[in-house]
This record gives sequence, structure tokens and C-alpha cells, in this order.
Amino acid sequence: MSNFNEERVLSVHHWTDRLFSFRTTRNPAFRYRNGQFTMIGLKVEGKPLLRAYSMASANYEDHLEFFSIKVPNGPLTSRLQHLKEGDPVVVGMKPTGTLIQDNLLPGKNLYLLGTGTGLAPFLSVIRDLEAYERFEKIVLVHGCRFVQELAYGDLISERLPADEHFGALVNEKLIYYPTVTREPYKNNGRISLLIENGKLCDDIGLPQLNKETDRVMLCGSPAMLADLRTILESRGFEEGNMGEPGHFVIEKAFAEK
Ligand code: A2P
Repeated sequence: MSNFNEERVLSVHHWTDRLFSFRTTRNPAFRYRNGQFTMIGLKVEGKPLLRAYSMASANYEDHLEFFSIKVPNGPLTSRLQHLKEGDPVVVGMKPTGTLIQDNLLPGKNLYLLGTGTGLAPFLSVIRDLEAYERFEKIVLVHGCRFVQELAYGDLISERLPADEHFGALVNEKLIYYPTVTREPYKNNGRISLLIENGKLCDDIGLPQLNKETDRVMLCGSPAMLADLRTILESRGFEEGNMGEPGHFVIEKAFAEK
């Protein structure tokens, strides 16, 4: 099997002038774990131009979905943002990544903390049956600068709870906490601050983050990851990775595109 497959764009959605999502066809031979990423991109002058993207689609769906920023003059995203239905996209057939259930110890609550396009891997995790079987509550926190950037809010708070397969589980277990930092909103402040000052857990009615009951997946900018890692480690959380499950796992949101 070739390492890359050519898919076709099915649809494109522009959230803001900085953020967009697109769907492609999916080769059924492309299998992945919810939370993983793969290399995707375009052929430019005959050569593949590829970057890492998390799959925002669940691994049982028959299409693929990706959530991207538009980097001004970014070699890939300055082209990708012009994708139209029917256009070809190159998709790497070897998914990988640390944001998978096996890398976490058993626990009670699963916190998914993402900023910006760091939401993407969690869109598949919140549709992962195993995650609902393993945890009593799944808390999805999405931090953005502006309200308009809280992409997929409608999917998370309207469509998933009404889903015929997942609705009951989502209603019972999923807590969605969107927060913005640069304009007024129902929740304000950086995720790191909301954990340190206890506001996140107070607001959702769960005990303060602790390593006995809580497991955490992080996806965001290097600065966000560094700050949250420090906070978690100061509370005794240990990082998990391939082969050694821990209390938390980390993935960089792939922003430099
Ligand atoms: P802020 O507006 O205070 O910078 P970006 O679009 O730059 O990736 O930011 C996405 C969100 O992540 C913003 O709300 C931003 O807050 C927040 N953020 C930036 N740095 C950190 C950090 N070190 N820890 C937590 N959140 C952060």
C-alpha cells in the first residue's frame, strides 16, 4: 500500500477569516484511533507539501474532516484555504499521536483542554465510545481569543446531544466549557488561569483537578502546553506516552503551516 492516498474535497466551511474546516473522501483502508493525526497536504509542482493535521472526524465516519488556521503566507495553508469541492488532497496513510486512550491511566473524569485548532483531536475523542466507557465525565474546554473562533460549538452543544447513537451518553457525561480571552462572554480567561484559580471546576461542579480521579489531554500552542504541564506537574500528574500510560498526555496543535 502506498504511504499516501489522494482524496477529494467534499465540502469547505470558513468559520472566520483565520479558521476553516474541510471534509474529504476517505479511503476505507485508512484506519486511525480517535485523537490521532496524520500528514496531509497538496501536490505543488508535482511534489507533496505536507503538514500534520489531527482528524476532527470520528474514526467510524466515512469521510475525513480537518480543522485549520490560515497562516498568512503559510506555504500550505495559504493554498489549502482556497480548496473547493472536488479538489484533490493528499492524505498520509500512517496516523500517529499521543492523545489516545491507551496512554492514560484509568480515572473518573477526562479533561480535554484545547486552544484554537487544538480542539480538532478532541472532536473525535468526544465521539469515541471507549472514552465514554472509561470515564464518568468528559470535560471539553475550548479556549479562543474571540467568540467567533469557538468553532464546532453547535456540533458539541446541539447536534451531538441529539444524536441517535451518542445522544444519551453525551447528555449524561459530556461537559462543554468554551472560554474566550479577548472579549466578554459567559466564560472568560485562559484555561491555565481557570484551572489555577479553581474557577473551571467550580463552574462545572467537579472537585478541583487532582491526579487521583482526573486524566487530562492537552492540545494547543507550545506556550499553552508548557503552562499547563507546569500546573499539572505541580499537582503530581505524570505524563503518559506510548507504552507508558500516565495522568496526562500532550500534543502540539500544529500551527506553523
Ligand atoms: P490570549 O488571548 O490571552 O493570548 P492563539 O489564537 O494565540 O493560539 O490563542 C488561543 C487561545 O489560547 C487564546 O484564548 C489565548 O489567550 C490562549 N493562550 C495563549 N497562550 C496561552 C497559555 N500560555 N496558556 C493558556 N492559554 C493560552
